[in-house]
Amino acid sequence: MSTATENIFQAIISHAKEYGFVYQSSEIYDGLSAVYDYGPFGSELKKNIKDYWWKSMTQMHQNIVGIDAAIFMHPTTWKASGHVDNFSDPMIDNKDSQKRYRVDHIIEAKADQLREAGKSSEADALLAKMDQLLAAEDFAGLKQLLADYQIVCSVSGTGNWTDIRQFNLMFSTQLGSVAEESDTIYLRPETAQGIFVNFLNVQKTARMKVPFGIAQIGKAFRNEIVARQFIFRMREFEQMEMQFFVRPGTQMEWYNFWKQERLNWHLSLGLPAEKYRFHDHVKLAHYADAALDIEFEFPFGFKEVEGIHSRTDFDLKSHQEFSKKKQQYFDNDIDEATGKPYGNYIPYVIETSIGLDRMFLLILSHAYEEETITKEDGSTDSRVVLRIPAKIAPNKLAILPLVKKDGLPEIARELMDECKGAFKCFYEEKDAIGKRYRRQDAIGTPFCVTIDHQTKEDNMVTIRHRDSMVQERIPISKVKELVLSHISY
Ligand code: GAP
Repeated sequence: MSTATENIFQAIISHAKEYGFVYQSSEIYDGLSAVYDYGPFGSELKKNIKDYWWKSMTQMHQNIVGIDAAIFMHPTTWKASGHVDNFSDPMIDNKDSQKRYRVDHIIEAKADQLREAGKSSEADALLAKMDQLLAAEDFAGLKQLLADYQIVCSVSGTGNWTDIRQFNLMFSTQLGSVAEESDTIYLRPETAQGIFVNFLNVQKTARMKVPFGIAQIGKAFRNEIVARQFIFRMREFEQMEMQFFVRPGTQMEWYNFWKQERLNWHLSLGLPAEKYRFHDHVKLAHYADAALDIEFEFPFGFKEVEGIHSRTDFDLKSHQEFSKKKQQYFDNDIDEATGKPYGNYIPYVIETSIGLDRMFLLILSHAYEEETITKEDGSTDSRVVLRIPAKIAPNKLAILPLVKKDGLPEIARELMDECKGAFKCFYEEKDAIGKRYRRQDAIGTPFCVTIDHQTKEDNMVTIRHRDSMVQERIPISKVKELVLSHISY
């Protein structure tokens, strides 16, 4: 990251804390690394992102239903899913600083440095070589790559590395009081498996026909070794995942459908298309026959925000094998080629998986702006504004009586009562109006309405638009309608 970008990112982190969006977990004990708490405005924003996703999946698609599975699952789940054997990252330790790194992360950091130094083709070559070595699990080759590019530890400054080895990312704990081997269970590292083990329950009870999807939002846990960049990579985080069950052989069609559909979801929030790009995976996870990341340009560069994976029939097949319970679906649609029903099969799966916290960071970092305002008299002023899309902003409307007397608070309270059932409002009567506007800008409230003495005469109020700062007079009876027109799905 360049110094200017680093400064902006630090400013976003400070702003998030100062205005009640995100706090370090257990801060009074100096915090817990890569674990965060969401404050009053942060939890509202997070919930609004969740609702927007949930609605787009389960309300706008008639063939998708939701579930809410437990975090703890039978330990065999993780054997069947491959996580016990395969959910690991290649790690390396620096012998001088004792610091541990994910090998791909330090190579990516080197590529970023090369790019910043204007050596983009060298950076691309380095990443291509890394992908190739990772795909081949050639750890000696990867270690040699560190030496070739003189990649050193950022703490000790040396290239005195151990060998590279795999490190499993699952957290384990004990079920019950006796610490026996059989009691070891895991905190789920992805929500997807709760969907797979419920595939037949959902299909039968909700009477779903392939193709159909199951959506879920919930916590996931990973013992990330290199936890950096604020809430980008956390040890406890939330995922919004959807598994879409399709007829074998149609998976690429659905993969392309969901690739576009998910990008459209991001764009429907008014986020700029040029800040997005797709990144096809070279090294595929053990369950996938195709995979890509939807990447967004964060202050620290293009990074993954969501994954689209064609998971084949790997998971259902494996659960069938381990549980000895059939995971088949009977498809009575007629196959035109044979003139007979498709019959029994294990469906293939397309997964869309987005990190809720990462989406939160995307919104925050895109919304944050330090703006210089030139006034009519030529003088300048400044403000920090969060241009959060109105649909997901923590508060939609701030209701501000100009003074706290002369019957103005009573009119404001009446407006509050009219609107608060429809969307989140914020009432404030303290301080000068300019100061109150600035506070609302800083938490991303898209509309402020001011009730003044003239309101008593003509029932008109001043509505101020956060982004343009344009103010207009409208009838008080139109306020609710105006806000609703900007926040409806
Ligand atoms: N079920 C598939 C799966 O979990 P993934 O690519 O490992 O795939 C999906 O994760 C998404 O979850 C990522 O795109 C990212 O947004 C989010 N995510 C993964 N690890 C994370 C972490 N440590 N902290 C925050 N978000 C994370």
